[in-house]
Amino acid sequence: MGQKQNTSFPQLRVVLKLCLIFCCLMLIACQVLADSDVDSKGIYQTRTVHSPDGIGKFYMGREIAKVMGHTEALWLERPSREAEEQPIKLVNALNLKPSDVVADIGAGTGYLSFRIAQQVLLGKVLAVDIQPEMLDMINFMKKENGITNVEPILGTVTDPNLPLDSVDLAIMVDAYHEFSHPYEVMQGIVSSLKPSGRVVLVEYRGENPFIPIKALHKMTQKQVRKEMSAVGLQWIETKSFLPSQHLMVFEKIN
Ligand SMILES: C[S@@+](CC[C@H](N)C(=O)[O-])C[C@H]1O[C@@H](n2cnc3c(N)ncnc32)[C@H](O)[C@@H]1O
Repeated sequence: MGQKQNTSFPQLRVVLKLCLIFCCLMLIACQVLADSDVDSKGIYQTRTVHSPDGIGKFYMGREIAKVMGHTEALWLERPSREAEEQPIKLVNALNLKPSDVVADIGAGTGYLSFRIAQQVLLGKVLAVDIQPEMLDMINFMKKENGITNVEPILGTVTDPNLPLDSVDLAIMVDAYHEFSHPYEVMQGIVSSLKPSGRVVLVEYRGENPFIPIKALHKMTQKQVRKEMSAVGLQWIETKSFLPSQHLMVFEKIN
């Protein structure tokens, strides 16, 4: 009898411990679920438990990153960016025509807008941003360099304020992942496209854990394709020649 008790007690203790761990995990899961909320249209979910780099708002399973403030504008103009992102190669790969109208959404200081403008001398670049301070910097650079084919546009978090049916190519470089209302902004972009218009997304490769960029500032191809398809864009191709970014091309399903 004494022997029996000696062998069953440790087993009972293990079972009790496992039960306790299971209960704790269930409590944590309930807490996470209780802390999440879906908006009235069912597009976005908010969670109180989230990444410090994000805004606690989720779209199609992805947490949206915090917006990069205009006080960090110098980071966008860092000299090492030429080697890190190879913007000239990027622009050349867009196969632009001189008369094209290009919308650069989330233009920041216009780092890409001004490089694209050199390729569309008979057309123009609509440089959209939600921070007026970024547009001030674009206007300063325009004046400083006598550039006439870059047009700054103040967008809102839900509307890029682009003219309808007028854009040949809409491009977002290192920007889409921080749009707080990606579904609404993309709808605005799709309406601005000409029937043959294209959308290009350039994002750091989320599939590669060795790229030294915060997780919420990278995107996987799978996620980008899912989010573009939600607004009626079909994937055409992914160009992988850039050191750390995907260049993904989409067009409207007409
Ligand atoms: C990381 S910066 C990239 C700027 C630029 N594309 C570049 O590569 O240098 C992202 C920019 O997107 C802008 N942005 C964030 N949400 C936006 C939105 N909903 N519509 C337009 N721009 C937005 C921010 O204000 C910021 O200037």
